[in-house]
Amino acid sequence: MRLIIEPDYAQVSKWAANYVAAQINAANPTPEKPFVLGCPTGSSPLGLYRELIRLNKEGRVSFRNVVTFNMDEYCGIPRDHEQSYYTFMWTNFFNQIDILPENVNILNGNASDPEAECRRYEEKIQSYGGIDLFMGGVGPDGHIAFNEPGSSLTSRTRMKTLTKDTIIANSRFFENNVDLVPKTALTVGVGTVMAAKSVLLIVNGYNKARALKHGVEGGISQMWTISALQMHPKALIIADEDACMELKVSTYRYFKDIESANLDPNTQL
Ligand code: GLP
Repeated sequence: MRLIIEPDYAQVSKWAANYVAAQINAANPTPEKPFVLGCPTGSSPLGLYRELIRLNKEGRVSFRNVVTFNMDEYCGIPRDHEQSYYTFMWTNFFNQIDILPENVNILNGNASDPEAECRRYEEKIQSYGGIDLFMGGVGPDGHIAFNEPGSSLTSRTRMKTLTKDTIIANSRFFENNVDLVPKTALTVGVGTVMAAKSVLLIVNGYNKARALKHGVEGGISQMWTISALQMHPKALIIADEDACMELKVSTYRYFKDIESANLDPNTQL
């Protein structure tokens, strides 16, 4: 696992966007062999999306041959609800880049047969040969996508019940009213994320400090699903200083030191 520590959220977002753009460009995608990108929602990736939009407008990266798969979607709210992940993605990213609408994949949280919908999603990912780069954030309780504590570390796309912690955390998007937050969601599994060729997580802010500590320093545990990334051959976490608050000084210094010798010209700010 690589842990990149940047001073603040703005620089985390820039670093991540430069990295993603460099990966897409290096793959030189074509319609026959597109680049397959896993996409998160939440506040963490907003800066990354803004930077990718800028790079796209400047002609430094194109999404014409990129296929996306979103991590998750709420159940029980209409697709055009202002807090659906469908609306989030089109508003904050897809409407502002040159992606082809038919290349966007988002789980249908209102499918009449959710199990079949989840199976279809996994099969579609497989039909592209898997995900090249899964981007993500993390919940304060360490969940990736909606893989709440206790989720199997080999899980695949399925329906999950959200924990009280997550419902409270996400109520800020629902008029601070926990009753308005959907109680279930369809989500890719930890195993789905782990099957991606590479994974990049954005972890910023004090309220993610415990999750980062468990993800980097803790043992691998279903109670902190972020920790599964320790088993991934190409996992990258980009954190700001605030999120490092609970790391041991030795851990912090170790990653700072090793990354200072690991300068990737594609990601220089
Ligand atoms: C939700 C999403 C996760 C996201 C998490 C953190 O639970 N399903 O994918 O990582 O929120 O959100 P934020 O980035 O807003 O803190």
